[in-house]
Amino acid sequence: MHLAESRPYIPALMTAATTGISVPNLPAEIPFPHRHLLGIQELSPDEIGYLLDLSNAYAEHNRARGDKLDLMRNKTLINLFFEDSTRTRTSFELAGMRLGADVINIAVANSSIKKGETIIDTAMTLNAMHADALAVRHSNAGAVKLLSEKVNCAVINGGDGSHEHPTQALLDALTIRRHKGHLQGLLVALCGDVAHSRVARSNIYLLQTMGARVRVIAPPTLIPPAMERLGVEVFHDMRAGLEDCDIVMMLRLQRERMEGSFVPSVHEYFKFYGLDYDKLQHAKPDALIMHPGPMNRGVEIDSDVADDIDRSLIREQVEMGVAVRMACLDVLTRKRQADTP
Ligand code: NCD
Repeated sequence: MHLAESRPYIPALMTAATTGISVPNLPAEIPFPHRHLLGIQELSPDEIGYLLDLSNAYAEHNRARGDKLDLMRNKTLINLFFEDSTRTRTSFELAGMRLGADVINIAVANSSIKKGETIIDTAMTLNAMHADALAVRHSNAGAVKLLSEKVNCAVINGGDGSHEHPTQALLDALTIRRHKGHLQGLLVALCGDVAHSRVARSNIYLLQTMGARVRVIAPPTLIPPAMERLGVEVFHDMRAGLEDCDIVMMLRLQRERMEGSFVPSVHEYFKFYGLDYDKLQHAKPDALIMHPGPMNRGVEIDSDVADDIDRSLIREQVEMGVAVRMACLDVLTRKRQADTP
């Protein structure tokens, strides 16, 4: 008998009797066939829904300051970040620790990777260290997938170039769902540097898969060609684009990915595309504001709007990031255990 059949899936939170937290309607078996989490594009609505339900339970556990869990005890999580990061790397670190894992951060800037080691050599090194899970960020689209094909452990994509950032889209969806109760039928505007944004891409896949409508609002230079083919509506005017929106998600100008200048000046950009109260009044009166961070205040978002305690979800997005990464590590760890003879 396959191990997965003999050992039903019991979420850590259900076994942590002291927390008193349970996960409502969670299926007994892991409905997640993937060894890695590389992108949202490969996930079904049920798989996304399952990850969000589990993440929500972890969010409650964290809010209640629940005990450290032991799901990843004796397991090692390695964070391998080829690009700078504060919140994503820290939240993977916290998520691993809260599940009881040993967590190692490899600072690529100080590692032999900078001395010319190939990604394949890096994979060989990680295999020799018997890592159980790997969170990877890389500036090249596809690099994380390549690594996942060479390592023995579960890999989570922490952002690859302008391609995907699946845990960001999951944490955004969880934050929205906790406030609006659902994703189905919502109108979400993604505003700003869509062309260089892996956050935008993963959010478009996730939101559409879960039945939300997506608009992108940006100057023509910051919208990738053939954007409409993804099924989104494209606007170049903020006021028109924000009309009737439930969620306004701002994106950072990704200047590190731009060769040359895509906007005349930061001042001009803010005037036409920066979110301030004047533009926001075109969205629904109860529209909520999001930003994946790091924010450029006064460039893509006005400080007062970003700090509006009634409408800005930016801090909560960071909080949900830890819960989502706990859920992803949980699912992939259990999947790996079930698959290991
Ligand atoms: C995003 C990223 O790295 O893609 N940030 C994040 O993960 N919190 C967005 C960005 O850098 O603008």
